[in-house]
Amino acid sequence: MLLEVKDIYKSYKKSFNIIKKGKNEILKGVSFNLKEGECLGIIGESGSGKSTLGRLIIGVEKADSGSIHLDGIDISKTNSSSIKKKSSVVFQDYSSSVNPRFKVIDILSEPMKTFEKLTKKDRIKKAINLLDKVGLSEEYLYRYPHELSGGQLQRVCIARAIATNPEFIVLDEAISSLDVSIQVQVLDLLINLKEQMGISYIFITHDLTAITYICDRVLFFKEGVVIEEVNTMNDLKNVKEEYSRTLLHAAMMMNEEEEIYEIQRIS
Ligand SMILES: Nc1ncnc2c1ncn2[C@@H]1O[C@H](COP(=O)(O)OP(=O)(O)OP(=O)(O)O)[C@@H](O)[C@H]1O
Ligand SMILES: [Mg+2]
Repeated sequence: MLLEVKDIYKSYKKSFNIIKKGKNEILKGVSFNLKEGECLGIIGESGSGKSTLGRLIIGVEKADSGSIHLDGIDISKTNSSSIKKKSSVVFQDYSSSVNPRFKVIDILSEPMKTFEKLTKKDRIKKAINLLDKVGLSEEYLYRYPHELSGGQLQRVCIARAIATNPEFIVLDEAISSLDVSIQVQVLDLLINLKEQMGISYIFITHDLTAITYICDRVLFFKEGVVIEEVNTMNDLKNVKEEYSRTLLHAAMMMNEEEEIYEIQRIS
């Protein structure tokens, strides 16, 4: 087992006002496992705590209680750099997750500088190799983020995420702000990388269609708890909970709309 999440609770202070005390419980006993090479989808409505869970897993925030084991080691008892080496994250907002004053080579060099001692020449070599892995040519190396399209920049973010050879990547709405056709390209890229490098993914999204495309298992998330777990994608149609069915239905409606839109565009 790569990742074992057990009974995680997390709350935030209601406000910084001393008079209005109290806490908002965001995660209320979340448990799940992730195997090596697996893609686990997490779907749930806005505000249900998906990104919060993502932050706990990559060790940037701590849970109030419960445990997260990575390769059998309790992450609350390890230093954050060893978690960082094993995990990466890609966010929806690719433009704000890179420094606009950095060229692609600098963006890709950042994790290398933290974890490896490479010469400048070797960093450039590795950056070219990473770009190649995400389907971008060498010519992008010296471009600034604003000189790239959204899809290209998100590819750069994915290249940065795989630079440290992580064991797993948290993809938090990573494709949500891309055009549908570009979404498919990036999903194909992710599937490819998963097969090539044996990386596991935690794929957080509102979009069930993307989940069916890439994930092996799905957790339905509502108000900070996992209300349903689907372990084979063929069972997706048979979800029991009303909430899961609503999400499924919404996704199907969206697909139909997209198809209609597609037909209108062609005709
Ligand atoms: N640092 C924080 N301080 C206080 N409240 C927070 C903090 N981070 C998140 N929250 C609250 O926790 C709840 C869950 O937020 P989270 O971002 O995890 O939801 P989400 O499921 O990722 O939603 P979305 O699908 O919209 O991205 C929200 O009500 C949010 O306001
Ligand atoms: Mg979120």
